[in-house]
Amino acid sequence: MADPSAPASTDVDALTGKPTTGHEWDGIRELNTPLPSWWLYTFYATILFALVWVVLYPSLPYVRGITGWTARGAIGQAIEAERQRTEPMLARIRAATPAAIAADPALRTFALAGGRVAFANNCAPCHGAGGQGAPGGFPSLADDDWLFGGGFDDIEFTIRHGVRNGEDADARGVAMPAFLSSGLSQAEIADLAAFVLKLSASTADAAAAQRGAPLYEENCAVCHGANGEGNREMGAPRLDDRIWLYGGDKASIMHTIAFSRAGVMPAFAGRLDAATINMLTVYVHALGGGE
Ligand code: HEC
Ligand code: HEC
Repeated sequence: MADPSAPASTDVDALTGKPTTGHEWDGIRELNTPLPSWWLYTFYATILFALVWVVLYPSLPYVRGITGWTARGAIGQAIEAERQRTEPMLARIRAATPAAIAADPALRTFALAGGRVAFANNCAPCHGAGGQGAPGGFPSLADDDWLFGGGFDDIEFTIRHGVRNGEDADARGVAMPAFLSSGLSQAEIADLAAFVLKLSASTADAAAAQRGAPLYEENCAVCHGANGEGNREMGAPRLDDRIWLYGGDKASIMHTIAFSRAGVMPAFAGRLDAATINMLTVYVHALGGGE
């Protein structure tokens, strides 16, 4: 192959003995230094590579390349392959009950992995990334304190129907009355708050708590139990532990009694398929003290 950068002139520089290009500016002459051949051949190789690439793969607008490969197509295939890989497992998970899934090591492992992803997508905004709950009425799912119950059936029911959402007739949770507008005075509410604090063995004004006791008996025991043990049928929280949905200081408790609270959770039965709900149930059950 002829060297394309061969000297255009036969002029040779006296000082270096190298040929010049024949160009001269004010007596300064340009030496002819050819590109190193390794560089040149690498350059030709990249051109060849690009030509082959253009023929094989989509590179120009509207030109597909003879292999027919596309990045979008490759992802589609990977998704389809993943679907085919997981479908037999998902079919078994769909057909089984959460309790049966948890008892089968292979299904359980699969359900915990799938449940973790579904939880991050659907539940974490309210219940926290690890199910630890959030202030303002979002209960921890990672402890053994349950509002409605921590058995497989209880958890599945809560996920399917949600809580006080007005969209599902079977949604859980009764409404607590707002006692300020239904007959109790501020002073009585303060006494009740003191009594609630005493129930949970927190520091409370003993005289106020004593005044609150009969008020509690009359207004609250029907839902929260005579000793604050709670009622799962109604979703009335225990008041005899120190686990609070809305805060355990006197002001928060007074606010709850005066204006009531109504935590809402959507129903997921129409939003998630049966396999996902089963996996979520197994995952939530495993998070804390499932019963
Ligand atoms: C919009 C916020 C929100 C989202 C999203 C949400 N939850 Fe809830 N969840 C709540 C609230 C609020 C409560 C408690 C309601 C109450 O005050 O009784 C609750 C209660 C629960 C309970 C009952 C806990 C007990 O102690 O009995 C379970 C179980 C539960 N959620 C699971 C889930 C799962 C699983 C998801 C995702 C599929 C989810 N939640 C999504 C707000 C939410
Ligand atoms: C009709 C049943 C019902 C009655 C009566 C009732 N409650 Fe409640 N109470 C509930 C429910 C249900 C909740 C949970 C609300 C929620 O999760 O949003 C609750 C929540 C609370 C909380 C918040 C607990 C926490 O973890 O933050 C306190 C405190 C409380 N009630 C005190 C009282 C007191 C004191 C009375 C009587 C004056 C009373 N309740 C009467 C049903 C009732």
